Amino acid sequence: MWNNIQTCVEIDKTLMKVYITREMTIPTQLSQKLASVLKQILGDALPEGFSPAVTPSQDLRFGDYQSNAAMMLAKQARTNPRQLATQVVEQFGDSPIASLEIAGPGFINFRVRPEYFAANTAAMLHDERLGVALVEQPKTLVIDFSAPNVAKPMHVGHIRSTIIGDTLGRLARFMGHTVITDNHIGDWGTQFGMILWGWKNILNQEDLDKDPIEALLSVYKEVNTKCKEEEGLLETCKAELVKLQSGDTENLEIWKKCIAVTKIGLEKIYSQLNISFDYWLGESAYNDALAPLVEDLIAKGIARESDGAICVFSDGFHKPQNDPFLVQKNGEWLPVPAIIRKADGGFLYATTDLATLDYRTQNFNADSIWYVVGAPQDKHFKQIFDIERMRGVTGDFRHVAFGSILGKDRKPFKTRSGDTVSLQDVIDEAVTRATKVIEEKSPDMPADQKAEVAQMVGIGAIKFAELSQNRMSDYIFDWDKMLALTGDTAPYLQNSYVRVRSIFRKIETPFSAPENIHLEADAEIHLARMLVRYGEVVPSTLDDCRPNLLAAYLYDLARAFHSFYEACPVLRSEGEVRESRLALCELTARVLKHGMGLFGIDMPDRM
Ligand code: ARG
Repeated sequence: MWNNIQTCVEIDKTLMKVYITREMTIPTQLSQKLASVLKQILGDALPEGFSPAVTPSQDLRFGDYQSNAAMMLAKQARTNPRQLATQVVEQFGDSPIASLEIAGPGFINFRVRPEYFAANTAAMLHDERLGVALVEQPKTLVIDFSAPNVAKPMHVGHIRSTIIGDTLGRLARFMGHTVITDNHIGDWGTQFGMILWGWKNILNQEDLDKDPIEALLSVYKEVNTKCKEEEGLLETCKAELVKLQSGDTENLEIWKKCIAVTKIGLEKIYSQLNISFDYWLGESAYNDALAPLVEDLIAKGIARESDGAICVFSDGFHKPQNDPFLVQKNGEWLPVPAIIRKADGGFLYATTDLATLDYRTQNFNADSIWYVVGAPQDKHFKQIFDIERMRGVTGDFRHVAFGSILGKDRKPFKTRSGDTVSLQDVIDEAVTRATKVIEEKSPDMPADQKAEVAQMVGIGAIKFAELSQNRMSDYIFDWDKMLALTGDTAPYLQNSYVRVRSIFRKIETPFSAPENIHLEADAEIHLARMLVRYGEVVPSTLDDCRPNLLAAYLYDLARAFHSFYEACPVLRSEGEVRESRLALCELTARVLKHGMGLFGIDMPDRM
């Protein structure tokens, strides 16, 4: 039914038929109509291609959406904003979607008609995309996320990257893009000098079998300390690294084993998180591409020698304050070149990233490449993208940055002993704590079901705590808060879902979607309003790479449901009212489950 672009739903005999354009959200439709009304009024005074912004109102007392178009255009039209707004409202006429009002200095407020929410929710019942339209121009998008370093501590930044990156991938796929997820692990760094020596001299095979990631990390740490104490050891380790880089068979074999066992360990973690990658093209995958790439950049005049190293300097394209190759010191702009080959011939992180970008644009045909990496690497990515501009390579290249995770003391999140916190430890602790929550809430639940639910609640809590933050701000990792059954937490949303589902266990005949939905009580109208917004929130969450928009929406939806459930009896109502209320419940459950699914969070049926 919803494959057609336009579908006609009769909502009220007295109202004209309302055309619901499923490919367009309410604000888009209002904005288009507004644009044509403004054209009628202003004629050539309307700037070419002007598309008036229609944004959700902060306060529902002023309606659902608002536009400041009259205020923006009044000057050009040689009139005052209120006067222009008045003309707009008159010309707009009787819209089946919303009624219009003027407020303040010339805002146009739109109050969506309850009939329109009713028709849209009725339509959503038959739409497996729940009102979310596919993008018009699907892209091929590579998402680079997680990317821990072999034998180095997986810092908490990797937790953020892993969770945000996975969600962006799910969102983009759902919107219709072709998504390629690539785990660009750090598998070719200087750490391998120490690891090789440690492998040969101190590694305990048993430890390695038990927990490869931990074992390699502790070998690395031990050798690191030893190097500071024992003279000459650092040189010995460096020699091991040089041997590896020049293709020594024994060292290559050990290196391969390190990667293999690390991958097994990581896969275990990712599978607990229900996260997977299409590719694992680590840094080492690009080794052969580095030398020719540097030669090419020299030949094109983009890179040049400086103190024996090969560097890329500013080409003066940007204003100094936007130039990633300049830094201001004492009122002067000083060069910060990107080094792509060291004086000793070694290549760097930047060189690998340039080669990686080439590979992705050429072999994956990527239009967009998003790097989900912490904010401290901002300069690095700005330089990489700018070098690509110099080479004439264009695309939607984004650094999706994020802040740090802090402990309750507002200092970087660490274990009690001051170590970096491993992702595995976080998962284990979350599940243990979630088990307690479930024990208290549902002591009678069978043990195996308890374990299953605890997994969903624990993992969900970590993910939701992450995704409900504005990614650019630092956030405090707080176990009690993220596992609370109230507030904007995964357990609260999971519990809301469970409550909705429990309603359906109490009805005699299976639920079947009604043709029409009737909305009367304020709480019903508000719940319908929230449900219809799903189609707006999902696309904008992806456009801005801000999962917190969707998280905040889901929380508001759950609250709208609870208010509705308190104000409007469902099972004790009758006839059409009951049918409509059940339909709102059904949609609430579907949207909650689907939205949390976009976060990779499972919803239990009971908890
Ligand atoms: N391994 C890097 C780190 O731990 C992250 C890699 C991010 N991806 C990239 N293409 N540079 O900091």
